[in-house]
Amino acid sequence: MLGSARSVTVLTGAGASAESGIPTFRGPGGLWKQFRPEELATPGAFARDPKFVWEWYDYRRNLIAQALPNPGHRALARLEERCPRFTLITQNVDDLHERAGSKNVLHVHGSIWTVRCLACNRETNDPRPSIPTLPPLCLDCGGVLRPGVVWFGERLPEHTWSAAVEAAASCEILLIVGTSLAVYPAAGLMDIARSAGAAVLEINPDTETGLRGLAGQILPELIP
Ligand code: OAD
Repeated sequence: MLGSARSVTVLTGAGASAESGIPTFRGPGGLWKQFRPEELATPGAFARDPKFVWEWYDYRRNLIAQALPNPGHRALARLEERCPRFTLITQNVDDLHERAGSKNVLHVHGSIWTVRCLACNRETNDPRPSIPTLPPLCLDCGGVLRPGVVWFGERLPEHTWSAAVEAAASCEILLIVGTSLAVYPAAGLMDIARSAGAAVLEINPDTETGLRGLAGQILPELIP
């Protein structure tokens, strides 16, 4: 099916980057200083202690800057080259899909390399792995900068999200790679695709119904 499909959509989560050395959120190695992501990735946590929350993002930015795409990322980039209509929806805030060669990537949870000013709202790309002052301040207005990611309780970026819904609703196959499907609305893309008649295939060491195993091993076998 994958070989002949004209339209494929992929949804990835933290498991897609696990073999690149970036810990997942839920599961072993997912905690930072005993804190769960739900306690750090919220507007309230940032309002209480922006420096502490930035330390977590800085730690992750450093990991991501040093990480390399793995064979799973590269297999998805190959699939895009072969498929006439291809969309990669990722919940990941890293840039490993792009660094592996993927082009049509929708970051529904934002990017860790983007920062946004709480005062003037200006959004900028900040490629530096770490920022000199914590919290970093806006070069334009001196306001506090926050990571350009989506936190619990926040809306997803509107255009990116509607493009993701459209890609899920119009594909022949939805591949779901390395996500616990614990966080909505992203997890709801599976039902959207299924209701629209797509075949859904999950790749995850934990799956009961899909291909059980590591993305970096199974994807290159599926997409040689
Ligand atoms: P989770 O940490 O919830 O789930 C990671 C999934 O990857 C689990 O189901 C693992 O079984 C699976 N997994 C682990 N290693 C794998 C491997 N090598 N190959 C394939 N699968 C593997 O991560 P997400 O589902 O991405 O939100 O979490 C969703 C959201 O919750 C994240 O985007 C983040 C977090 O809070 C925001 O940043 C807003």
